[in-house]
Amino acid sequence: MTELSTRIAGIGSYLPERILTNDEISAMVDTSDSWIRERTGIRQRHIAGEGITTCDLAERAARRALEDAGLEADDLDLIVVATTTPDFTFPSVGTMLQARLGAMKGAAFDVQAVCTGFVYALAMADNMLARGQAKTALVVGAETMSRILDWTDRSTCVLFGDGAGAMVLQAADTGEGAERSGILGTYLRSDGRFKDLLHVDGGPSSTGTVGHLRMVGNQVFRHAITNISESMTTIAKRSGVSIEDIDWFVPHQANQRILEGVARKLSIPTEKVISTVADHGNTSAASVPLAFDRAVQDGRIKRGDLVLMEALGGGFTWGAALARF
Ligand code: UT7
Repeated sequence: MTELSTRIAGIGSYLPERILTNDEISAMVDTSDSWIRERTGIRQRHIAGEGITTCDLAERAARRALEDAGLEADDLDLIVVATTTPDFTFPSVGTMLQARLGAMKGAAFDVQAVCTGFVYALAMADNMLARGQAKTALVVGAETMSRILDWTDRSTCVLFGDGAGAMVLQAADTGEGAERSGILGTYLRSDGRFKDLLHVDGGPSSTGTVGHLRMVGNQVFRHAITNISESMTTIAKRSGVSIEDIDWFVPHQANQRILEGVARKLSIPTEKVISTVADHGNTSAASVPLAFDRAVQDGRIKRGDLVLMEALGGGFTWGAALARF
Protein backbone atom coordinates (compact mmCIF):
# COMPACT_ATOMS: atom_id res chain seq x y z
CA MET A 1 0.00 0.00 0.00
CA THR A 2 1.35 3.44 -0.96
CA GLU A 3 2.04 5.68 2.01
CA LEU A 4 0.86 9.25 1.66
CA SER A 5 2.65 12.18 3.22
CA THR A 6 0.95 14.46 5.74
CA ARG A 7 1.09 18.18 5.02
CA ILE A 8 0.54 20.79 7.73
CA ALA A 9 -2.15 22.87 5.99
CA GLY A 10 -2.85 25.35 8.79
CA ILE A 11 -2.22 26.25 12.42
CA GLY A 12 -4.05 28.32 15.05
CA SER A 13 -4.20 28.84 18.79
CA TYR A 14 -6.22 30.52 21.48
CA LEU A 15 -5.49 31.79 25.00
CA PRO A 16 -8.22 32.85 27.41
CA GLU A 17 -8.18 36.57 28.17
CA ARG A 18 -7.62 36.47 31.92
CA ILE A 19 -3.94 36.71 32.85
CA LEU A 20 -2.83 35.55 36.30
CA THR A 21 0.48 37.06 37.39
CA ASN A 22 3.08 35.65 39.77
CA ASP A 23 2.32 38.49 42.18
CA GLU A 24 -1.34 37.49 42.30
CA ILE A 25 -0.37 33.87 43.11
CA SER A 26 2.03 35.19 45.78
CA ALA A 27 -0.99 36.65 47.55
CA MET A 28 -2.61 33.19 47.61
CA VAL A 29 0.29 30.87 48.63
CA ASP A 30 3.76 31.24 50.16
CA THR A 31 5.74 31.98 47.01
CA SER A 32 7.22 34.96 45.19
CA ASP A 33 7.59 36.34 41.70
CA SER A 34 11.38 35.97 41.98
CA TRP A 35 11.20 32.27 43.03
CA ILE A 36 8.83 31.43 40.18
CA ARG A 37 10.89 33.32 37.57
CA GLU A 38 14.25 31.93 38.73
CA ARG A 39 13.13 28.29 39.04
CA THR A 40 10.77 28.11 36.05
CA GLY A 41 11.01 31.22 33.84
CA ILE A 42 7.24 31.72 34.19
CA ARG A 43 6.00 35.34 34.52
CA GLN A 44 2.29 34.79 33.97
CA ARG A 45 -0.29 32.30 32.73
CA HIS A 46 -3.76 32.55 31.14
CA ILE A 47 -6.75 31.19 33.04
CA ALA A 48 -10.14 30.28 31.55
CA GLY A 49 -12.90 32.29 33.19
CA GLU A 50 -15.84 30.72 34.98
CA GLY A 51 -18.00 28.70 32.62
CA ILE A 52 -15.33 28.54 29.90
CA THR A 53 -14.45 24.94 29.13
CA THR A 54 -11.72 23.04 27.31
CA CYS A 55 -14.06 22.58 24.32
CA ASP A 56 -14.57 26.37 24.15
CA LEU A 57 -10.79 26.91 23.90
CA ALA A 58 -10.42 24.02 21.44
CA GLU A 59 -13.15 25.43 19.20
CA ARG A 60 -11.50 28.86 18.94
CA ALA A 61 -8.08 27.39 18.15
CA ALA A 62 -9.65 24.98 15.64
CA ARG A 63 -11.51 27.75 13.79
CA ARG A 64 -8.26 29.74 13.49
CA ALA A 65 -6.39 26.70 12.15
CA LEU A 66 -9.14 26.01 9.59
CA GLU A 67 -9.07 29.65 8.50
CA ASP A 68 -5.29 29.53 8.18
CA ALA A 69 -5.61 26.39 6.04
CA GLY A 70 -8.31 27.99 3.90
CA LEU A 71 -10.58 25.02 4.61
CA GLU A 72 -14.09 24.51 5.96
CA ALA A 73 -15.17 22.24 8.80
CA ASP A 74 -16.96 20.20 6.17
CA ASP A 75 -13.57 19.26 4.69
CA LEU A 76 -12.56 17.45 7.91
CA ASP A 77 -12.92 13.70 8.18
CA LEU A 78 -10.88 13.21 11.35
CA ILE A 79 -10.65 15.13 14.63
CA VAL A 80 -8.17 14.15 17.35
CA VAL A 81 -8.14 16.18 20.55
CA ALA A 82 -5.37 15.81 23.11
CA THR A 83 -6.58 16.74 26.57
CA THR A 84 -6.32 15.76 30.22
CA THR A 85 -9.02 18.18 31.28
CA PRO A 86 -12.13 17.27 29.23
CA ASP A 87 -15.45 19.04 29.81
CA PHE A 88 -17.01 15.69 30.80
CA THR A 89 -15.82 12.16 31.51
CA PHE A 90 -17.67 11.46 28.27
CA PRO A 91 -18.47 12.29 25.53
CA SER A 92 -15.02 13.24 24.30
CA VAL A 93 -14.06 16.84 23.59
CA GLY A 94 -13.39 15.56 20.06
CA THR A 95 -17.00 14.61 19.36
CA MET A 96 -18.32 17.77 21.05
CA LEU A 97 -15.97 19.82 18.89
CA GLN A 98 -17.11 17.90 15.80
CA ALA A 99 -20.71 18.93 16.51
CA ARG A 100 -19.82 22.55 17.23
CA LEU A 101 -17.83 22.92 14.04
CA GLY A 102 -20.44 21.05 12.02
CA ALA A 103 -17.85 18.56 10.76
CA MET A 104 -20.14 15.66 10.05
CA LYS A 105 -17.81 13.30 8.20
CA GLY A 106 -15.46 10.70 9.61
CA ALA A 107 -14.46 10.17 13.25
CA ALA A 108 -13.55 12.22 16.30
CA PHE A 109 -11.93 11.11 19.55
CA ASP A 110 -9.67 12.21 22.42
CA VAL A 111 -6.13 11.13 23.24
CA GLN A 112 -4.93 11.18 26.83
CA ALA A 113 -1.16 11.43 27.15
CA VAL A 114 -1.07 14.50 29.40
CA CYS A 115 1.69 16.95 28.38
CA THR A 116 2.77 14.66 25.51
CA GLY A 117 -0.81 14.60 24.26
CA PHE A 118 -0.30 16.78 21.20
CA VAL A 119 2.66 14.72 19.98
CA TYR A 120 0.59 11.53 20.49
CA ALA A 121 -2.43 13.05 18.70
CA LEU A 122 -0.23 14.18 15.81
CA ALA A 123 1.17 10.65 15.52
CA MET A 124 -2.36 9.12 15.51
CA ALA A 125 -3.57 11.50 12.81
CA ASP A 126 -0.40 11.22 10.73
CA ASN A 127 -0.62 7.41 10.73
CA MET A 128 -4.31 7.44 9.78
CA LEU A 129 -3.72 9.92 6.95
CA ALA A 130 -0.70 8.00 5.69
CA ARG A 131 -2.83 4.82 5.51
CA GLY A 132 -5.62 6.57 3.63
CA GLN A 133 -8.10 6.28 6.53
CA ALA A 134 -8.82 10.01 6.36
CA LYS A 135 -7.88 12.90 4.08
CA THR A 136 -8.09 16.01 6.24
CA ALA A 137 -7.51 15.95 9.98
CA LEU A 138 -7.83 18.49 12.77
CA VAL A 139 -5.41 17.88 15.64
CA VAL A 140 -5.98 19.92 18.79
CA GLY A 141 -4.25 20.23 22.14
CA ALA A 142 -6.58 21.94 24.62
CA GLU A 143 -6.46 22.24 28.39
CA THR A 144 -8.00 23.94 31.39
CA MET A 145 -5.27 22.83 33.80
CA SER A 146 -6.46 25.48 36.28
CA ARG A 147 -9.44 23.20 37.04
CA ILE A 148 -7.29 20.34 38.38
CA LEU A 149 -4.80 22.40 40.40
CA ASP A 150 -4.73 22.48 44.17
CA TRP A 151 -4.57 26.25 44.62
CA THR A 152 -3.13 25.78 48.14
CA ASP A 153 -0.13 23.74 46.85
CA ARG A 154 2.64 26.17 45.92
CA SER A 155 4.75 23.42 44.37
CA THR A 156 2.25 22.93 41.51
CA CYS A 157 -0.22 25.82 41.28
CA VAL A 158 2.42 28.30 40.09
CA LEU A 159 3.34 26.16 37.08
CA PHE A 160 0.28 25.63 34.89
CA GLY A 161 -2.04 27.60 32.62
CA ASP A 162 -4.93 27.18 30.19
CA GLY A 163 -5.03 27.39 26.39
CA ALA A 164 -5.42 25.56 23.10
CA GLY A 165 -3.57 25.05 19.84
CA ALA A 166 -4.61 23.29 16.64
CA MET A 167 -3.22 22.05 13.34
CA VAL A 168 -4.99 21.00 10.17
CA LEU A 169 -3.26 18.13 8.40
CA GLN A 170 -3.89 16.92 4.86
CA ALA A 171 -2.86 13.74 3.14
CA ALA A 172 -0.80 14.46 0.03
CA ASP A 173 0.62 12.24 -2.69
CA THR A 174 4.39 12.29 -2.58
CA GLY A 175 5.38 12.28 -6.22
CA GLU A 176 8.18 9.98 -7.33
CA GLY A 177 11.52 11.55 -6.38
CA ALA A 178 9.91 14.62 -4.79
CA GLU A 179 11.25 15.79 -1.43
CA ARG A 180 8.99 14.58 1.36
CA SER A 181 7.37 17.40 3.35
CA GLY A 182 4.92 17.69 6.23
CA ILE A 183 5.24 15.21 9.11
CA LEU A 184 8.49 13.34 8.51
CA GLY A 185 8.34 11.12 11.54
CA THR A 186 6.93 10.63 15.03
CA TYR A 187 8.35 8.76 18.00
CA LEU A 188 6.26 7.82 21.05
CA ARG A 189 7.35 6.35 24.37
CA SER A 190 5.88 5.70 27.81
CA ASP A 191 6.88 4.11 31.11
CA GLY A 192 4.02 3.52 33.52
CA ARG A 193 6.25 2.84 36.51
CA PHE A 194 6.55 6.55 37.27
CA LYS A 195 2.87 7.24 37.98
CA ASP A 196 3.50 8.50 41.51
CA LEU A 197 5.89 11.24 40.39
CA LEU A 198 3.20 13.01 38.35
CA HIS A 199 -0.50 12.17 38.58
CA VAL A 200 -3.98 13.37 39.50
CA ASP A 201 -5.27 11.95 42.78
CA GLY A 202 -8.84 11.34 41.64
CA GLY A 203 -10.95 9.88 38.85
CA PRO A 204 -14.34 8.33 38.05
CA SER A 205 -13.52 4.73 39.01
CA SER A 206 -11.26 5.42 42.00
CA THR A 207 -12.44 8.35 44.09
CA GLY A 208 -15.41 9.46 42.06
CA THR A 209 -13.94 12.97 42.09
CA VAL A 210 -11.97 14.98 39.55
CA GLY A 211 -8.91 15.14 41.82
CA HIS A 212 -5.88 17.42 41.91
CA LEU A 213 -2.56 17.37 40.12
CA ARG A 214 0.35 16.09 42.27
CA MET A 215 4.00 16.21 41.23
CA VAL A 216 7.42 15.45 42.68
CA GLY A 217 8.86 18.23 40.57
CA ASN A 218 12.58 17.79 41.04
CA GLN A 219 12.42 14.08 40.12
CA VAL A 220 10.26 14.76 37.04
CA PHE A 221 12.81 17.42 36.06
CA ARG A 222 15.64 14.87 35.84
CA HIS A 223 13.59 12.39 33.78
CA ALA A 224 12.46 15.22 31.51
CA ILE A 225 15.96 16.23 30.44
CA THR A 226 17.09 12.64 29.83
CA ASN A 227 13.97 11.37 28.02
CA ILE A 228 13.40 14.48 25.92
CA SER A 229 17.02 14.47 24.73
CA GLU A 230 16.73 10.77 23.89
CA SER A 231 13.52 11.28 21.90
CA MET A 232 15.07 14.17 19.95
CA THR A 233 18.20 12.29 18.95
CA THR A 234 16.15 9.18 18.09
CA ILE A 235 13.69 10.98 15.81
CA ALA A 236 16.49 12.85 14.08
CA LYS A 237 18.41 9.62 13.47
CA ARG A 238 15.33 7.73 12.26
CA SER A 239 14.47 10.56 9.88
CA GLY A 240 18.00 10.75 8.52
CA VAL A 241 18.70 14.32 9.68
CA SER A 242 21.22 15.64 12.17
CA ILE A 243 20.28 17.90 15.07
CA GLU A 244 22.26 20.72 13.36
CA ASP A 245 19.99 20.44 10.26
CA ILE A 246 16.92 21.36 12.30
CA ASP A 247 15.80 24.99 11.99
CA TRP A 248 13.48 25.21 15.01
CA PHE A 249 12.83 23.30 18.19
CA VAL A 250 9.29 23.58 19.58
CA PRO A 251 9.42 21.96 23.01
CA HIS A 252 6.70 21.32 25.56
CA GLN A 253 6.80 24.38 27.80
CA ALA A 254 7.21 23.04 31.34
CA ASN A 255 10.19 24.99 32.62
CA GLN A 256 12.72 27.32 30.99
CA ARG A 257 15.50 25.42 32.81
CA ILE A 258 14.42 22.18 31.07
CA LEU A 259 14.48 23.90 27.67
CA GLU A 260 17.96 25.24 28.38
CA GLY A 261 19.21 21.95 29.88
CA VAL A 262 18.17 19.98 26.79
CA ALA A 263 19.61 22.63 24.46
CA ARG A 264 22.92 22.51 26.33
CA LYS A 265 23.02 18.70 26.29
CA LEU A 266 22.45 18.55 22.51
CA SER A 267 24.51 21.69 21.69
CA ILE A 268 21.49 23.51 20.26
CA PRO A 269 21.78 27.32 20.07
CA THR A 270 19.07 28.77 22.33
CA GLU A 271 17.90 31.12 19.52
CA LYS A 272 16.55 28.03 17.76
CA VAL A 273 14.39 27.03 20.72
CA ILE A 274 10.87 28.50 20.76
CA SER A 275 9.98 29.44 24.32
CA THR A 276 6.58 30.67 25.48
CA VAL A 277 6.83 29.41 29.04
CA ALA A 278 7.25 32.95 30.43
CA ASP A 279 3.86 34.03 29.10
CA HIS A 280 1.85 30.81 29.04
CA GLY A 281 3.22 28.64 31.87
CA ASN A 282 2.73 24.91 31.32
CA THR A 283 -0.44 24.38 29.28
CA SER A 284 0.10 20.61 29.03
CA ALA A 285 -1.14 19.24 25.66
CA ALA A 286 -1.73 22.78 24.35
CA SER A 287 1.82 24.00 24.85
CA VAL A 288 3.47 22.67 21.67
CA PRO A 289 0.88 23.96 19.16
CA LEU A 290 0.62 27.26 21.10
CA ALA A 291 4.38 27.78 20.85
CA PHE A 292 4.46 26.63 17.21
CA ASP A 293 1.69 29.05 16.27
CA ARG A 294 3.34 31.97 18.03
CA ALA A 295 6.58 31.40 16.13
CA VAL A 296 4.68 31.20 12.84
CA GLN A 297 2.77 34.39 13.68
CA ASP A 298 5.91 36.34 14.57
CA GLY A 299 7.66 35.18 11.39
CA ARG A 300 10.33 32.93 12.89
CA ILE A 301 9.01 29.58 11.58
CA LYS A 302 8.52 29.79 7.82
CA ARG A 303 7.19 27.40 5.21
CA GLY A 304 9.86 24.86 4.33
CA ASP A 305 11.59 25.03 7.73
CA LEU A 306 12.51 21.82 9.51
CA VAL A 307 10.83 21.78 12.94
CA LEU A 308 11.20 19.34 15.81
CA MET A 309 8.42 19.14 18.43
CA GLU A 310 8.90 17.25 21.69
CA ALA A 311 7.27 16.69 25.08
CA LEU A 312 7.26 14.71 28.31
CA GLY A 313 4.33 14.32 30.65
CA GLY A 314 2.49 12.24 33.24
CA GLY A 315 2.52 8.51 32.72
CA PHE A 316 5.40 9.02 32.03
CA THR A 317 4.77 9.61 28.37
CA TRP A 318 7.24 11.28 26.05
CA GLY A 319 7.97 11.65 22.39
CA ALA A 320 8.85 13.82 19.43
CA ALA A 321 7.62 14.72 15.96
CA LEU A 322 9.68 16.07 13.07
CA ALA A 323 8.03 18.15 10.36
CA ARG A 324 8.99 20.06 7.21
CA PHE A 325 6.57 22.98 7.67
O1 UT7 B 1 4.75 19.07 32.20
C1 UT7 B 1 5.05 17.83 32.73
C2 UT7 B 1 6.44 17.76 33.14
N1 UT7 B 1 6.69 18.63 34.25
C3 UT7 B 1 7.88 19.09 34.44
O2 UT7 B 1 8.72 18.82 33.61
C4 UT7 B 1 8.18 19.87 35.68
C5 UT7 B 1 9.53 19.49 36.15
N2 UT7 B 1 9.94 20.09 37.41
C6 UT7 B 1 10.20 21.42 37.55
O3 UT7 B 1 9.99 22.20 36.66
C7 UT7 B 1 10.85 21.87 38.84
O4 UT7 B 1 11.26 20.74 39.56
C8 UT7 B 1 9.93 22.74 39.75
C9 UT7 B 1 9.76 24.10 39.13
C10 UT7 B 1 8.57 22.05 39.90
C11 UT7 B 1 10.55 22.91 41.12
O5 UT7 B 1 11.87 23.48 41.02
P1 UT7 B 1 13.11 22.81 41.79
O6 UT7 B 1 14.26 23.69 41.55
O7 UT7 B 1 13.19 21.40 41.30
O8 UT7 B 1 12.68 22.92 43.29
P2 UT7 B 1 12.44 21.75 44.38
O9 UT7 B 1 11.18 21.00 44.06
O10 UT7 B 1 13.68 20.96 44.57
O11 UT7 B 1 12.19 22.62 45.68
C12 UT7 B 1 13.18 23.50 46.19
C13 UT7 B 1 12.57 24.29 47.33
C14 UT7 B 1 11.83 23.43 48.35
O12 UT7 B 1 12.09 23.96 49.63
P3 UT7 B 1 13.19 23.29 50.58
O13 UT7 B 1 12.76 21.87 50.77
O14 UT7 B 1 14.51 23.42 49.84
O15 UT7 B 1 13.11 24.13 51.81
C15 UT7 B 1 10.38 23.68 48.00
O16 UT7 B 1 9.54 23.53 49.13
O17 UT7 B 1 11.62 25.21 46.82
C16 UT7 B 1 10.41 25.10 47.56
N3 UT7 B 1 9.30 25.46 46.69
C17 UT7 B 1 8.87 26.73 46.54
N4 UT7 B 1 9.28 27.89 47.12
C18 UT7 B 1 8.64 29.00 46.76
C19 UT7 B 1 8.57 24.67 45.88
N5 UT7 B 1 7.65 25.40 45.22
C20 UT7 B 1 7.82 26.69 45.61
C21 UT7 B 1 7.20 27.88 45.29
N6 UT7 B 1 7.63 29.03 45.88
N7 UT7 B 1 6.19 27.96 44.39
